[in-house]
Amino acid sequence: METNVTKRRDNKKALRVKVISLGDAEVGKSCIIKRYCEKRFVPKYLATIGIDYGVTKVQVRDREIKVNIFDMAGHPFFYEVRNEFYKDSQGVVLVYDVGARDSFQALDGWLGEMKQEMGSQANMDTIVFIVCANKVDLTKRRVVDEGEGRLWAESRGFHYFETSAQSGEGVSDMFQAFFSAITDMCENGGRRPAVPEVSVGFTQGAGRTPVEAHPPTARTPGTCWGSKPGARAEEVNKAYRKLAVLLHPDKCVAPGSEDAFKAVVNARTSLLKNIK
Ligand code: GTP
Ligand code: MG
Repeated sequence: METNVTKRRDNKKALRVKVISLGDAEVGKSCIIKRYCEKRFVPKYLATIGIDYGVTKVQVRDREIKVNIFDMAGHPFFYEVRNEFYKDSQGVVLVYDVGARDSFQALDGWLGEMKQEMGSQANMDTIVFIVCANKVDLTKRRVVDEGEGRLWAESRGFHYFETSAQSGEGVSDMFQAFFSAITDMCENGGRRPAVPEVSVGFTQGAGRTPVEAHPPTARTPGTCWGSKPGARAEEVNKAYRKLAVLLHPDKCVAPGSEDAFKAVVNARTSLLKNIK
């Protein structure tokens, strides 16, 4: 017997979206897509020549989404091929390798290249961006920490995920959040859903600043922000969200907020690792 849910699903038209991957050569763009679509990892480096194209279907809530994936080559040599494919994208997976600082620093350049092809910032504002800090399995060679990456992404209104195409960590969660945000945007008339706005008043001289109240130098991760050692993951995340909103440099003009924000992100990472 057909349920109401099935009927509703059938009634809603499938959504067709275009997404692209961007980032330096060898950061793992193709491997992330392969991990998600084919559930496998290819250790050998096979550089993408110009562009790779694939199609996949996903379900977001009661909506079927047909996703056209354009996997771009990161090598500068392929610029002439890539630049044809920026237009009409609803989503961008922006990838860097946590073990290669150059690839992190190159992210602004990638946005610049895209903006040039899109014509204006206004056209960029109707696209969902998700940042993948990839190769987190290679912990010993990591040089860009979570605080730095998250700050870069979130201060631009982008989503941030830590991923490993090798182990699969974070990859499904990242794509789920990505497709869900794209669906929200399409259902919202093409406007990118706003990053939740929380107004935080900081008045110079009015008691302790958020940074003074939560100094980033506390020895035990987490003890500086009211989550006790032994706390469970949801308590840690709750405390993290509260402080991240308070300390995010976009919201907090107090000196030192950037360092404090990064310290909170790193404390959360350490605490969650211990809980695992
Ligand atoms: P271009 O196509 O040249 O732009 O590169 P790409 O960004 O598509 O990189 P690709 O996915 O081909 O991966 C480059 C190399 O990094 C390959 O040798 C992969 O096996 C390796 N690699 C990718 N992701 C990971 C990861 O999460 N962990 C580890 N350890 N290696 C990875
Ligand atoms: Mg590739």
